[in-house]
Amino acid sequence: MRTSLLFAIVVVAIYIDATPSTAVPDTWTPIPDKEINDSDIQGLGGWAVTEHVKQANDGIKFNRVVSGYIRKAYRGVNYRFVIDASNKDGKEARYGAVLYDKDWRGSRALISFKPVM
Ligand SMILES: *[C@@H]1O[C@H](CO)[C@@H](O)[C@H](O)[C@H]1NC(C)=O
Repeated sequence: MRTSLLFAIVVVAIYIDATPSTAVPDTWTPIPDKEINDSDIQGLGGWAVTEHVKQANDGIKFNRVVSGYIRKAYRGVNYRFVIDASNKDGKEARYGAVLYDKDWRGSRALISFKPVM
């Protein structure tokens, strides 16, 4: 009996410990200008365009991430980017993209991607 009670306490303790403190979404924080050209940020922007092209098949080409925001999300982070890309005629346009990047297994999702007016 005592053993099963101890087991129950341990299970509860592990459960509480495993609940991430980052579970509550945070507010959007601007990515500083000096970090916007970092290869990880630019790489995520390029990934977002590739993913968008897979879905929309509009053949736009990634140029660069111009600006962005980051916020904590459940077991990962969200990025909100303004991306400069070129269409098939080489005309540049800006797009707003929202991404979800998971903490582990490198799993990502493109949440939205649309032209910025
Ligand atoms: C980032 O790159 C762009 C385009 O190459 C450049 O115009 C800008 O000055 C760079 N920003 C910083 C902070 O290095």
